[in-house]
Amino acid sequence: MAVITFANTKGGAGKTTAVLLLATELERKGYRVTILDADPQYWIHRWFEASRGRTTINVISYVTMTSLQRHVEEARSRSDFVLIDLPGARSPLLAKSVGFSDHVMIPIQGCAMDAQGGAHVIELLQYLEEKGNIFIPFSVVLTRVNSMVTTRAMQVVKTLLAERRVHVLDTPIIERSAFRDIFDCGGTLYSADPGRVSNLAKARENASAFANEVIESLETRVRFQIPTPGAAVSIRTAA
Ligand SMILES: Nc1ncnc2c1ncn2[C@@H]1O[C@H](COP(=O)(O)OP(=O)(O)O)[C@@H](O)[C@H]1O
Ligand SMILES: [Mg+2]
Repeated sequence: MAVITFANTKGGAGKTTAVLLLATELERKGYRVTILDADPQYWIHRWFEASRGRTTINVISYVTMTSLQRHVEEARSRSDFVLIDLPGARSPLLAKSVGFSDHVMIPIQGCAMDAQGGAHVIELLQYLEEKGNIFIPFSVVLTRVNSMVTTRAMQVVKTLLAERRVHVLDTPIIERSAFRDIFDCGGTLYSADPGRVSNLAKARENASAFANEVIESLETRVRFQIPTPGAAVSIRTAA
């Protein structure tokens, strides 16, 4: 059983898309999945409404500061994975939600503004560890990556993360219209019509590789600790 929070204080970073891709891939592998939708835009809630009867994923909508703990506890008992989708903007829900999490995924888009939103989350996790001795492993997933070219902005983000010794998934989430279409139509990449959705096979391959790597990261539970400038990098395994 794992609770994973998806966090970036910037809207549009690809959090909700990453949550849905991971949730539907985990469901396909036979896991019991709950999504706690704490994003006031309720995209996951809307996807669930559009998918009626076509998913076993349990979606809890309208999750708030007061209800989060109860929802996490309930979801833990009946799910293999609990995924928490947070609001785009800075929110008190962020600290509370990461406090309940076994892992934090930070989706970062290849532009400076998004790297900033991701940096806020990394700083918070670093602060919790230094001041509160609370250790929460985290990984960055690069999102909305152009399949053809590595943009300069993406290189800047990668360099920044490498300097901080942040664990970045090898699999980026590629910019694909198929990932938007499943929000509009409901269902999954596997119920979508290959005749109507472009590059569906590539989208499926990407989502599957992303989910496999997340599972692998959770299993090994290794994180690269952000060092203080000049300090050696340490790699620790969570208890
Ligand atoms: N990999 C992707 N390919 C195509 N569109 C994407 C991708 N990731 C996000 N989007 C689109 O970008 C917008 C913002 O993404 P979203 O996942 O809602 O971000 P967040 O939850 O961080 O605000 C949405 O319109 C979404 O459909
Ligand atoms: Mg969102």
